[in-house]
Amino acid sequence: MVSLNENFLKLKAGYLFPEIGRRVSTFAKENPSAKIIRLGIGDVTEPLPPAIIAAMHAATDEMASRETFRGYGPEQGYDFLREKIAQHDFQSRNAEVSAGEIFVSDGSKCDTGNILDIFGHDNRIAVLDPVYPVYVDTNVMAGHTGSADSEGRYQGLVYLPVTAENNFIPELPDEPVDLIYLCYPNNPTGVVASREVLTKWVNYARENQAIILFDAAYEAFITDPKIPHSIYEIPGARDVAIEFRSFSKNAGFTGTRCAYTVVPKTLQAKTRSGKDVSLHQLWNRRHCTKFNGVSYIIQRGAEAVYSPEGQQQIGELVSFYLENARLIREGLQAAGISVYGGVNAPYVWLKTPGTYTSWEFFDELLAKAHLVGTPGSGFGASGEGYFRLSAFNSRANIEEAVRRFQKLVS
Ligand code: MLT
Repeated sequence: MVSLNENFLKLKAGYLFPEIGRRVSTFAKENPSAKIIRLGIGDVTEPLPPAIIAAMHAATDEMASRETFRGYGPEQGYDFLREKIAQHDFQSRNAEVSAGEIFVSDGSKCDTGNILDIFGHDNRIAVLDPVYPVYVDTNVMAGHTGSADSEGRYQGLVYLPVTAENNFIPELPDEPVDLIYLCYPNNPTGVVASREVLTKWVNYARENQAIILFDAAYEAFITDPKIPHSIYEIPGARDVAIEFRSFSKNAGFTGTRCAYTVVPKTLQAKTRSGKDVSLHQLWNRRHCTKFNGVSYIIQRGAEAVYSPEGQQQIGELVSFYLENARLIREGLQAAGISVYGGVNAPYVWLKTPGTYTSWEFFDELLAKAHLVGTPGSGFGASGEGYFRLSAFNSRANIEEAVRRFQKLVS
């Protein structure tokens, strides 16, 4: 008889975003004339910039002739892309990352889940609460937790609450942990981490032989010049951190798929017998075994992000979404709602009005204003009483959403 991975049975209901999708389609079926505006999942709406499209067209043409056709590429990504990434995203900020430390992939969601392959099963794991659900759910699937309690907290994980009371900045864990997931600019709260905050974490990791899994998928939205874009801008981080980056939100690749992960060659972990082993080597082995690389055409598109035209065009795209975030933030503030984030991030995090729980507010907003957001409690128990709105949408939809929201709460 076949046995199954019973850890999956510990997972709470469906993954958050499909669950929202299910509720919205039920509502849409029952209310076919409702003009629903979706500010739930952070999915981009604007087309790929012209420089990227041109590069992908040219690469497609190369595939049409024997001389320039490409079959399997290097699993880690083509050097033309890895070199641009190292130079533009790190070396230009005095962060020491070389092209050989970059692994091009099909997404940060996949990488933040897959990275668990190279770690043991006995690590103590810390996550912020609320948190991007993938970090938690993949640890549940891997058998790193017990069951969930009535509030949805899994036994065995160390939760670091982030709420308005601590300005969404977590305390260091008061018990030892080995792996720490950090995401900045933060999903879902939209707050950023200062150099001091990141330095505190890097020092903690160095002192406790811990490793930080740093998700920087939203770094392009940082407008404040004092805020670091990469954990590697912090001295000593190369020995204690893996960083995840994505082209999804800065360049519109949510459907196109391209991302990358940095595993420094200096990063090590110990075997049970105390021997140091390079995590770079392990991840390389895993990547080459389970992944065949991102398509050549897409990597040429990603390379175009770094051309002068590409940089200008993605800058405009990011500014467009940030302006949406400003409209949401200020529109909600004018309606008396407490809002957070949305300045250096595409997400606005808000306190639900009155005594609404997060899901009650979700239902109310959908039923009465035909607006979709994400219930804060879907990101963790400490997200209860909060709600997330995404700035990824057309300007007309954002303006209309703010009007409807204001009308609902006034
Ligand atoms: C979100 O809405 O939190 C993101 O779109 C999820 C993701 O990037 O996977």
